Amino acid sequence: MTGKFLRVLDGEKFDVPPVWMMRQAGRYLPEYRETRAKAGGFVDLCLNPDLASEVTLQPIRRFGFDAAIIFSDILIVPYALGAKLWFEEGEGPRLEPVSDQVSFGKLSDQLDQKITSRVYEALSKTKAALPPETGLIGFCGAPWTVATYLVAGRGTEDQAPARLLAMQEPELFQKIVDRLVVASAEHLVGQIKAGADAVQIFDTWSGVLDPFSFERWCVKPVAEIARKVRAAIPDARVIAFPKGAPLNGIEAVAKQSSANGIGIDWITNRKECVVRFGDKFASQGNLDPLALIAGGKALDQAVDNVLADFKGSRHIFNLGHGIRKETPIEHVEQMISRVRKG
Ligand code: CP3
Repeated sequence: MTGKFLRVLDGEKFDVPPVWMMRQAGRYLPEYRETRAKAGGFVDLCLNPDLASEVTLQPIRRFGFDAAIIFSDILIVPYALGAKLWFEEGEGPRLEPVSDQVSFGKLSDQLDQKITSRVYEALSKTKAALPPETGLIGFCGAPWTVATYLVAGRGTEDQAPARLLAMQEPELFQKIVDRLVVASAEHLVGQIKAGADAVQIFDTWSGVLDPFSFERWCVKPVAEIARKVRAAIPDARVIAFPKGAPLNGIEAVAKQSSANGIGIDWITNRKECVVRFGDKFASQGNLDPLALIAGGKALDQAVDNVLADFKGSRHIFNLGHGIRKETPIEHVEQMISRVRKG
């Protein structure tokens, strides 16, 4: 049975939209924190098929979302290309930086199957355990966003190291992006073959580039990934999420990658999306994650606004970015029942 999430990606619309949340498996859930403690480190959790599948299923059991997103991370791709990866407790990801010819030369041009196969195993296990109407999402980071971490070796405030390298050494930066395009497309194909019904490409930092650079480093690479995925799997469903991009940029990404769906952050004008995009692709979003912390009337109002603005269009209810760890679980319940009351 094909559930609502996939049906909206395939062209339908519903009065009550399907709903899931970015980062729905995560630290706001006590059962996640418990499994995470059992796994050891964050990377160990990502690469343990049983536990990764378990945490993927936790929010589905608790809330009955219309889609599950496989528990993994966008940095698994550079890790599988040989870049060292670890997470500093309370700080975030650390990678062995790739920022010059020498460090680029050490990067493999093949994904390490010993690493990626664990993600595929987690997907197969999850698929077997999910209710048939629940969609399963695989994902990768967009090359630009992954490159911002790879070049700096960590998350940065304004992605300056990658922006600077792209200006100073565009040929080297192009090589890094091209390597990520090939590896990401292969990883998405592997995920679909293992059971993912759709794949999402997260471009979290696409909002920091000038229009020319945005075209070169965001629009083209994401379109190339989508093209490669569909060359292998013609009916693959692709969702692109160019977070922070202006409406023109969002539209360029969606059109050039023939996206089935496009992620919308909370800054973006929803009514404008409906007018511009029509029914060409689904809009997925865009509740401000802070509304989920506020709760009460503010949350009800924010949910109602999202529903009203997207009414009559191909809409998948989601947040405008990942749920924050301090979010009360009751507020998630409140959001879901508000969305589903119709
Ligand atoms: O959405 C889901 O539930 C699926 C799993 C998922 C994670 N990361 C798990 C995770 C997904 C889709 C991601 C994507 C991801 N990872 C992005 C793009 C989307 C976004 O949120 O902007 C980025 C930029 C990353 C890189 C990353 N991973 C960072 C910067 C951090 C640290 C920030 C933080 O919140 O601590 C992570 C860690 C991470 N990835 C956690 C989770 C649940 C928290 C780690 C923990 O359990 O300690």
